[in-house]
Amino acid sequence: MVLAAEFMKGFIRMADDGCRQGWHERNGGNLSYRLKPEEVDAIKPNMTPAGHFIKIGVKAENLAGEYFLVTGSGKYFRNIAAAPQDNLGIVELDQQGEGYRIVWGLEKGAVPTSEFPTHIMNHRVKKAVTKGEYRVIYHAHTPSIIALTYVLPLTDKEFSRVLWTMATECPIVFPDGVGVVPWMVPGGSKIALATCELMEKHDVAIWAHHGMFCAGPDFDTTYGLMDTVEKAADIYLRAMSCGQGIRQTISTDNLREIASAFHVKLREEFLD
Ligand code: 13P
Ligand code: ZN
Repeated sequence: MVLAAEFMKGFIRMADDGCRQGWHERNGGNLSYRLKPEEVDAIKPNMTPAGHFIKIGVKAENLAGEYFLVTGSGKYFRNIAAAPQDNLGIVELDQQGEGYRIVWGLEKGAVPTSEFPTHIMNHRVKKAVTKGEYRVIYHAHTPSIIALTYVLPLTDKEFSRVLWTMATECPIVFPDGVGVVPWMVPGGSKIALATCELMEKHDVAIWAHHGMFCAGPDFDTTYGLMDTVEKAADIYLRAMSCGQGIRQTISTDNLREIASAFHVKLREEFLD
């Protein structure tokens, strides 16, 4: 019943697609989805809530009582489709939005991803700024973006400009650009707060020397965003590896032309 749910199938397909891209070595990366009320109702008979709530380390009042499908800590994406109940779980948040309990899956003693604080804080911000539309938070270890964090200045503007200009469709796919979190210890509330601050303005947050977080309304859009940003980084690396630098590119005027033709608003502070 739970495994037959459309959101479960979409989640597993996305995890498999990310794995095939080479973004999920070992247990790298994690994924979470905020369930819709009707999806919760449909699987309620299959829930077996663990007794007590466990503190997350961050608080999200606007997510009180909500349910999330989330990958387990230390779990390998490549194993998800073969044994979803061991590698994924559905968790319920308490009425304060600061504790969780497992209601399905994460069997054999598993727990939600170590990046659960960042997922929850990103969901908190995105639910607020998109008026409930966004439901997916995705973290992947995307090699080309990680490589760029070793060679480009770690600023939102530098990364946004480079990535926007690496393919004509990029500014249409992520008109708000990307945010960059400097190197930080992963897995706690500090990096969660730094990331969700950027998520107020962008759908993409890059973690220096680590990977990327993307947010979106559904699995297709969020996966597509990760794929587009990573591909832009890959194009930059390929162009630079020809050894003569960037000779010509999409100009600021061209970016403005794209914005006007496709009716998107590019973040002005990245355009001067
Ligand atoms: P988890 O296995 O706890 O999800 O950690 C993987 C990861 O990518 C940490 O940033
Ligand atoms: Zn990671």
